[in-house]
Amino acid sequence: MSAIVIDGKAVAEEVKADVAKKVEGLKSRGIVPCLAVILVGENPASVSYVTGKRKALAAAGMADKSVLLPETATEQQVLDLIHELNEDSSVHGILVQLPLPKHIDEKKVTNAISPEKDVDGFHPVNVGKLLSGEKGFLPCTPHGIAVLLKKAGVATDGANTVVIGRSNIVGKPMALLLLRREYNATVTVCHTGTKNLAEYTKKADILIVASGHPHTVTADMVKSGAAVIDVGVNRIPDSSKKSGFRLIGDVDYDSVKEVAGYITPVPGGVGPMTIAMLIYNTLEAAENISLAEGK
Ligand code: GUN
Repeated sequence: MSAIVIDGKAVAEEVKADVAKKVEGLKSRGIVPCLAVILVGENPASVSYVTGKRKALAAAGMADKSVLLPETATEQQVLDLIHELNEDSSVHGILVQLPLPKHIDEKKVTNAISPEKDVDGFHPVNVGKLLSGEKGFLPCTPHGIAVLLKKAGVATDGANTVVIGRSNIVGKPMALLLLRREYNATVTVCHTGTKNLAEYTKKADILIVASGHPHTVTADMVKSGAAVIDVGVNRIPDSSKKSGFRLIGDVDYDSVKEVAGYITPVPGGVGPMTIAMLIYNTLEAAENISLAEGK
């Protein structure tokens, strides 16, 4: 039997519609949630992600104070811009699109964002809160995956969950989130140092793949009925497309969908959820800041 395909686009639309409704409520109190996305350079994938994020902002009725800087911008220019946005009371969320050009220290930049405006959840204060179980901003991709699992009816309680990848953006926060008592999963993190990956993946009830490489997971590595979440976004040449490429994930979709119980497609799975949760976090930032200001 073929797997149930989890429609990330549809769930993302639900989340965004809910946020848009709440934005209207805030606006009636004179508060317009506002996000500033900072993009340095013209990395094609980053340009595409930032365009998607800004479109979603507009659709949710939020204000957009994004800044596009040239590839040659200095680290100090980026830091100065962040300090300016930290001080700007009309801005509720700040996001620096990664990766940054090589001459800019990503950690320095991420750490300069005020934790109250860190809608990516990358600042050490928010990372620490995720680790210790305090309320803070959750990184958008892991949060989106948790929402997808819940909406699809995939039980995480006691589920053998394997995360492939240990990035700060996906793998590590994903593992920490599913470890929380509210999800209560048994979590294993696999990475490039893992010996015999299939030994782990075959035992997974939930398999979250964020390796960054196409075909990391094939059908023979998947337990029958497992929920397989594909975080990969890989551009492969395709002359039949106007753009000259198409997107594939990290999972061998066609074969794995015949074994899995649930699967997310690429595109249309995790990607739209990342954007939806960013809009959600921006709303939360605006609510928190306006509350703190007594509005
Ligand atoms: N680059 C890839 N994913 C992300 C993300 O979620 N946030 C930011 N800021 N950059 C990214």
